[in-house]
Amino acid sequence: MNTTAEAIETSTANLKASDFDGDRTFEGTLGDITAAEARMECRQVNVWYDDNHAIREVSLDIGKHEVVSMIGPSGCGKSTFLRCLNRMNDTIPAAKVTGSIKLDGREVLDRGIDVVPLRAQVGMVFQKPNPFPKSVYENIAYGPRIHGLTNHREELDELVETSLKRAGLWEEVKDRLEQPGTGLSGGQQQRLCIARTIAVSPEVILMDEPCSALDPIATAVIEELIAELRQEYSIAIVTHSMQQAARVSQRTAYFHLGDLLEVGATGQIFEDPQHNLTRAYVTGRFG
Ligand SMILES: Nc1ncnc2c1ncn2[C@@H]1O[C@H](COP(=O)(O)OP(=O)(O)OP(=O)(O)O)[C@@H](O)[C@H]1O
Ligand SMILES: [Mg+2]
Repeated sequence: MNTTAEAIETSTANLKASDFDGDRTFEGTLGDITAAEARMECRQVNVWYDDNHAIREVSLDIGKHEVVSMIGPSGCGKSTFLRCLNRMNDTIPAAKVTGSIKLDGREVLDRGIDVVPLRAQVGMVFQKPNPFPKSVYENIAYGPRIHGLTNHREELDELVETSLKRAGLWEEVKDRLEQPGTGLSGGQQQRLCIARTIAVSPEVILMDEPCSALDPIATAVIEELIAELRQEYSIAIVTHSMQQAARVSQRTAYFHLGDLLEVGATGQIFEDPQHNLTRAYVTGRFG
C-alpha cells in the first residue's frame, strides 16, 4: 500500500451525498479534464432516465496508458457514465444520452455506428464476475470467433493462451481449459472475464467495481493486473475503495449528484482536493 492510500481517512459518518446538497456550488468541473494523449474524449455528456437527469454536462478525457478512477457517493452516476463509453446505456429503454464521446477521434454516439465492434474496442468488466456457462477455453475463444478475428483452432489456442497469460490466470487453469468457467473461484472468474475482454483486442477497458465481490488477496491480484494492463490499454475504473483508486489510478474523477465536480492527478485529489465536497468525500465525511 502506498503512502497516499495510507493517508486516507476511511472512517465514515452516516451522512449521504444529499446532506451536502446545500454546499453545492457547481460552476463547472474543477481541474484539468484533458489527458496528454487522449484515447477517449467525452464532452458535455448528459444522461436522462426518463426525467431523471443522471449525468450533467460531463467532459473528461481518458488517456492512453492511464487508469482513470471514478469515485463518488452511491447514485452519483459513475456506472451511468461508464456505460456511455461503449453505448451500454442503449440497452436501457428509458436512457437518453446527449453530447459527444470520441474514441480515437470517431464519434461513439453516432446512431450509425455498429455497437458490436465498439463493445469489443471498449470492453467492460462488471462488479460480479459473469463467465459464460461454457468451458474456460470457450469463454475466451467465443469473442474472437464472433468478432471474426479468427476461426482457426491453432490461432484460437494461441489467443486463449496469451489472453489467459496476460490476465495472470494461465498457470491456474492450463490443465482445466475444458472445465466450466463458472467452476473457478470468484477471483479467477474475474480474471477470466478480463482475459475474455482482452482476447478481442480492446483499446479501452471499463471496470465497474471489479473487486467488490473479491477478498483482499484476489483484489490485490486484480490490482497488479490493472497496473500491467495499463501499459497496453486505457482503463476507466469505478471504485468505492479510495485506497484502491489511490493504488491503481493516475487520475481520479470525483462525481457528485450527476456532476463531475473535480478531476486531477490521483495524489492531488486525495491530498489537496480543491472542492469542499471532494474533500468531504475523500476524508470519509460521507459515502
Ligand atoms: N437502469 C436504470 N434505470 C433508471 N434509472 C437508473 C438506472 N440506472 C441508474 N439509474 C439512476 O441514475 C442515477 C445514477 O445511478 P448510477 O447507477 O449511475 O450511480 P452510481 O454512481 O454507479 O451508484 P453506485 O455507487 O450505487 O453504483 C441514480 O439516480 C439511479 O437511480
Ligand atoms: Mg454503480
